Amino acid sequence: MELFDVYPRYSVRLNHAKGAYVFDDAGQAYLDLYGGHGVISIGHTHPRYVQALSEQLNRIGFYSNSVDMPIQDMLAEKLGAQSGYPDYRLFLCNSGAEANENALKLASFHTGKNTVITYRNSFHGRTAAALAVTDNSKLQAPINQNNFPVTFIELNQEAALEQALDNPDVCAVIIEGIQGVGGLDQPTPGYLKFLQKKCAEHGVLLILDEIQCGYARSGKFFAHQHAGIRPDIITVAKGMANGFPIGGVLIQPGIEAKHGMLGTTFGGNQLACAAAISVLDTLEEEAVLENVNSVSQKLLAGLENIPGILRIKGQGLMLGVELPYPVKELRSKLLHEHRIFTGSSNNPNLLRILPPLTITWQEIEPLLHVLKTELS
Ligand SMILES: Cc1ncc(COP(=O)(O)O)c(C=O)c1O
Repeated sequence: MELFDVYPRYSVRLNHAKGAYVFDDAGQAYLDLYGGHGVISIGHTHPRYVQALSEQLNRIGFYSNSVDMPIQDMLAEKLGAQSGYPDYRLFLCNSGAEANENALKLASFHTGKNTVITYRNSFHGRTAAALAVTDNSKLQAPINQNNFPVTFIELNQEAALEQALDNPDVCAVIIEGIQGVGGLDQPTPGYLKFLQKKCAEHGVLLILDEIQCGYARSGKFFAHQHAGIRPDIITVAKGMANGFPIGGVLIQPGIEAKHGMLGTTFGGNQLACAAAISVLDTLEEEAVLENVNSVSQKLLAGLENIPGILRIKGQGLMLGVELPYPVKELRSKLLHEHRIFTGSSNNPNLLRILPPLTITWQEIEPLLHVLKTELS
């Protein structure tokens, strides 16, 4: 059987990985400034992560949600405390799209309404509801059309939001803390405050998609915390378990849970929880937020001094370097000549930088020298 060929791939065969580096079959090291699409949070094969998964696998690898799950309680407690949301409840699933799917469904259950407001250039995943609120018609099959009513509005335009909220059928607004796939545009703190206020006034739930920008990537636990707001629902995935598949929905106390309203076979299994707990423990014990902020500050200062860069976007270690021309060739050169993985986005001129959050300044600094050479 052959693979269903849906991914454009680089011809690199990875054999093993450590910290901020991945190694190919020939033992060649590559600096990983892509993190397998913003997934690697505490570094590849972190010892605490490997130990937590190995020990859990030797005890019990899987049982479904039909029995008590103390490891889920432990994860929820640690996540609540570390993220600043101890009073919220946690629903566990397996991916980012699934987290958003459940968040949207929950908003609809809670309000009894069916219309969602979302943003131009957004990406929320490829399952039915998540795709419906994603601004990319190329990803839609005929069965995805006319799912439920969706209003697309421009980021940071208050009048457009007010007009969209005039519709009495709106159940939720979904927004990324920093747009990932779209190209690193982000809501301003003032707009997020306005959005929270308007949602509350209209009885509409505010869903913050923190799947890519959350879990310390922006320099705070959640990107929306730079604006000091508290959404009703927050979705997480990617960095949550450093590559072990998991997703989560954080739910404010006023939303009632009923048995059977949400569910999944694999979601919140013991291995995923063990991996996720090892990530939270590492974020705390290794002061990862401080590292993100200090590395980011130095990197931004260095990037600002490189001629040829049009704009630098993003926050923390979720950065975009915009050039006046497409970055495809540059990315290929970075990978094949300089052995550096980077990311792309819907904006063809934007180089995306999503390193492990534990990366040191010494490890990431070579990027500046390489960009200086390549852009001069
Ligand atoms: C902001 C955001 N939301 C949702 C998703 C979907 O996550 P997954 O690919 O795990 O379904 C992604 C994936 O890139 C994302 O960046």
